[in-house]
Amino acid sequence: MDAAAFRRACGVFATGITVATVMGRDGKPHGLTANSFCSISLHPPMVLVCVAHKAATHGPFASASSFAINILSENQKDLSVRFSSSHANRFEGVGWRKGESGAPVLEGALAVLECVTRERIEAGDHTIFLGEARRATVNDGRPLVYFGGGYGELK
Ligand SMILES: Cc1cc2nc3c(=O)[nH]c(=O)nc-3n(C[C@H](O)[C@H](O)[C@H](O)COP(=O)(O)O)c2cc1C
Repeated sequence: MDAAAFRRACGVFATGITVATVMGRDGKPHGLTANSFCSISLHPPMVLVCVAHKAATHGPFASASSFAINILSENQKDLSVRFSSSHANRFEGVGWRKGESGAPVLEGALAVLECVTRERIEAGDHTIFLGEARRATVNDGRPLVYFGGGYGELK
């Protein structure tokens, strides 16, 4: 298997972009940019997100009992960049609040799914986190889009 071809092929699957968040045991918010989000089931409402073992956020994710999926709107590209790059404090200057499940909810997100962690499945170099959605909120707006390694907006 050619790794570059694998990445290129997966990269033409256009996605939205989320910031997946948890509250750490240290009492601090943690989050990373993730486009591996997927809705799975309606009854019960379940979603998944995959987090790389090597991500600094993996530890807090693995020990948290809840997480939030913040689906970014087209004017939140700066958040996607910030939550995917090294930044001393990614939440500095970012509007957020603790959601009902305890996980951080970002201000201005297009939609937010607050989830209770149900399962952690090891898959290659990632862990798949399955969550049961307890609360979903949607705001007006358009999504930020990722395609072929770059950001875009829906026309
Ligand atoms: C558009 C985009 C989507 C990403 N999706 C994921 C993902 O689904 N899972 C993941 O583990 N990393 C993903 N990443 C990479 C992480 O955001 C990045 O490696 C991570 O934040 C590294 O920081 P950390 O080690 O502090 O967590 C994505 C990056 C970008 C730019």
